[in-house]
Amino acid sequence: MQLTFNVESGDFTRAGFASSQVKKTLKQLNVDSTIIKRVVVALYEAEVNIVAHAYRGDITAAIDPEKIVLKLEDEGPGIPDIAQAMQRGYSTASPEVREMGFGAGMGLPNISENADHFEIHSEVGKGTTLTITIHLK
Ligand SMILES: Nc1ncnc2c1ncn2[C@@H]1O[C@H](COP(=O)(O)OP(=O)(O)O)[C@@H](O)[C@H]1O
Ligand SMILES: [Mg+2]
Repeated sequence: MQLTFNVESGDFTRAGFASSQVKKTLKQLNVDSTIIKRVVVALYEAEVNIVAHAYRGDITAAIDPEKIVLKLEDEGPGIPDIAQAMQRGYSTASPEVREMGFGAGMGLPNISENADHFEIHSEVGKGTTLTITIHLK
């Protein structure tokens, strides 16, 4: 099963739409609730990052009985130093984004912790692609 979503920069009210749809689907498939929580946290943080840091993005969630593979491809500024971006507390979020309660610098570390497999590729001036795999059993 494949679900697709798109995300636009700046639209924080819609960040969380993909993760809530995926949550519903995994519940219907009777996936263990602790696994669902990991998927929702990882996907939500990745959605927020597109809204906060990129221009737009496409999300696909490919679900099979063994695993979910989340792919988030954005058009945006890219990440010049991925090792630095992965550090807890590191954030380039704007003052406006921080005022809305985002920008704690914990998103990428949280994604990494909740994923069984996490890949991040980025090209400065073009965009960023995340691939997050979580086993469902
Ligand atoms: N999709 C993205 N496009 C561009 N930069 C990003 C993206 N995701 C993360 N980053 C960069 O990595 C930093 C750390 O991300 P994260 O850990 O989620 O913290 P936060 O979003 O709270 O700043 C961001 O501040 C930003 O500089
Ligand atoms: Mg973030």
